Amino acid sequence: MKCFRVLYAVMAMGMVLPIAAVGYGKAGSMPAAQGRPAAVPDDDANAPYKTFDATPAITMGPLLLDMSDTSVVVEWMTDAASDGKVSYGEGKIEHEVIPQVDGLVPVGTVHRVVLRGLLPGRTYQYKVSSRRVVALKPYWPDRGQTVESPAYSFTTFDAAKKTTDFAVVTDTHEDVGRIRALMDLIHQAPVDFVVHTGDSLNYGVSENQLKDKFLEPVATGLQGRTPLQYVRGNHEYRGEFARSLGEYLHAQSGKYFYTRDQGPLHMVMVDTGEDKADATNVYAGLNNLRDYKQEEFAWLKQVLVDETRVRTAPFTVVFGHDSRWGWVDGGPDPWTQLANQAQVDLFIAGHEHRYEHITPGKRGNDFSILVLGQDQVARVEASDQALKVTVVDRTGKTIDAFSIQRKNK
Ligand SMILES: [Fe+2]
Repeated sequence: MKCFRVLYAVMAMGMVLPIAAVGYGKAGSMPAAQGRPAAVPDDDANAPYKTFDATPAITMGPLLLDMSDTSVVVEWMTDAASDGKVSYGEGKIEHEVIPQVDGLVPVGTVHRVVLRGLLPGRTYQYKVSSRRVVALKPYWPDRGQTVESPAYSFTTFDAAKKTTDFAVVTDTHEDVGRIRALMDLIHQAPVDFVVHTGDSLNYGVSENQLKDKFLEPVATGLQGRTPLQYVRGNHEYRGEFARSLGEYLHAQSGKYFYTRDQGPLHMVMVDTGEDKADATNVYAGLNNLRDYKQEEFAWLKQVLVDETRVRTAPFTVVFGHDSRWGWVDGGPDPWTQLANQAQVDLFIAGHEHRYEHITPGKRGNDFSILVLGQDQVARVEASDQALKVTVVDRTGKTIDAFSIQRKNK
């Protein structure tokens, strides 16, 4: 293994490519990465273990998930069992992260690497690479060749930033044409990040289904540079693969609920759960949202009451799949009351497959609720004084536009 690590260090130093795109303030204004994934020249001609002439193909990504001010998840997939590492740096690519789980470098077709220790509001270049693992023998495993992506770049979140723009899509429900069309729309005006508020699948079946019907078209659309902040929908609770989706879609915390700060925004991503009670016959006793939602409610209380950013950020925005959040068999009141007390400014949801703007007061809510439809993009331009919301349909036609002014908190 020592030999393996040294080989990689040498390879990383030798593979630094000249990169023209450095220091762009906004992710969307950066040019897309140039080139395609490529096999790197034989990096271990004299390796003492057997090396086959087999190079993995990158079949998804890289996709940036759950961006924060100091960290980000980089995820990609390969067609065959491989390892994975990320090389990155500010200005030039000079660091690398080789992941490990319990001391072993993960080998498989999905690769998920967390870059940590980044600085807020900085632009980093990065590349992913995977080397084929042909046979995981106890000694002298058989290896193959390495595939390496082109260089991409991203900008970390920064709570000190004056403004930020983001886009929201929802309920894509395995419609690849829909995802590609919405991503094209998003690219017409650059954004710092994209939120998907759930129901990416009809129900979970397999890794290939998740890749083909969601991850790949999203990753292709986001071009390795715009991060995805994912929110779980009720359909992600269903199917034989539902219990595995976290390996691909969890936030860095290993949960589906999390908070992030970017510019004037304090963002609270909630998991609104199933839309039917645990005792509903179709689940045959295999859901326990009751305890899960208790845990989430305790977390929500803590983040909405104790976190100073709720009071100091110009705007707090909640993202959740179902605007009728709360207890699965109890109603939304305590959750909405908590949000009212925290002076939440906006709740962005999906689930209904049609647009609705629920103004303050309609459901006991002191904040606006935006229910985004299935073939729509919500674009939000946030400054320290206002949230400017525009909702367009798949053809780019404006459906609604409104502004939310900053409250005295
Ligand atoms: Fe839904």
